[in-house]
Amino acid sequence: MLPDLSKLKQVEHPELLLAQAEPFLELMMKYHCAVMEVETKIKILNEEFSHKNQRNPIESIKTRIKSPASILEKMNRRDIPFDIEHMEKELNDIAGVRVICSFPEDIYDVARLITEQDDIVILQIKDYIENPKSNGYRSLHLIVAIPIFLSSQKKNMKVELQFRTIAMDFWASLEHKVKYKKDVENPEYIAEELRKCAESIAQLDLRMQEIERSTNPTTTCDL
Ligand code: GTP
Ligand code: MG
Repeated sequence: MLPDLSKLKQVEHPELLLAQAEPFLELMMKYHCAVMEVETKIKILNEEFSHKNQRNPIESIKTRIKSPASILEKMNRRDIPFDIEHMEKELNDIAGVRVICSFPEDIYDVARLITEQDDIVILQIKDYIENPKSNGYRSLHLIVAIPIFLSSQKKNMKVELQFRTIAMDFWASLEHKVKYKKDVENPEYIAEELRKCAESIAQLDLRMQEIERSTNPTTTCDL
């Protein structure tokens, strides 16, 4: 039996209460397991690729579970009924894995290899590399379902996967910082500058990829 979580909206720090609710903690544990599964799969692909090609396609992997406060804020903002079932059904980004790749083509190679695995189901693809956001943001976003195996159940969990190059990550991190600065005098100028930087970064990514190809023409991801 789930507790009636609807009253949490009326208390002063609902995120603190929410963090203690057992069904919530159990769900977060399951998301944590799903993140570990995805991270291991990515690490295995990296290991095999570097064994075959003498280089790693993955620079780093960052994982995170959305905080109770962010979950609550998003559910309030989107007017999602406040219970565990809706939380799981409506939020796609409680579990997040960010994969930072070396070169743009590594993104598509790794994304293809992971989504071709027979226990992974792709639920959504947003390709902000092929179609950058108007502010210049670039990354490949996937929502996937992945099974976790617990003592008495197998359960499919949703995980948000973000793939970017080091250069795209550099831009996104700094843009995130600038975006939240208040009382900026010339927001249009800043936005235009950020968009131009994103453009330059995308060109650099392709130039670096060309350099890599010319020094290592045999590199292949056909594992
Ligand atoms: P959220 O409600 O924020 O999760 O967005 P969404 O459901 O519309 O999904 P989308 O795939 O567009 O973005 C999800 C995540 O990508 C965000 O939480 C950020 O981590 C990242 N992201 C998307 N757009 C931007 C952007 O313009 N700048 C930066 N720095 N990150 C972004
Ligand atoms: Mg999000």
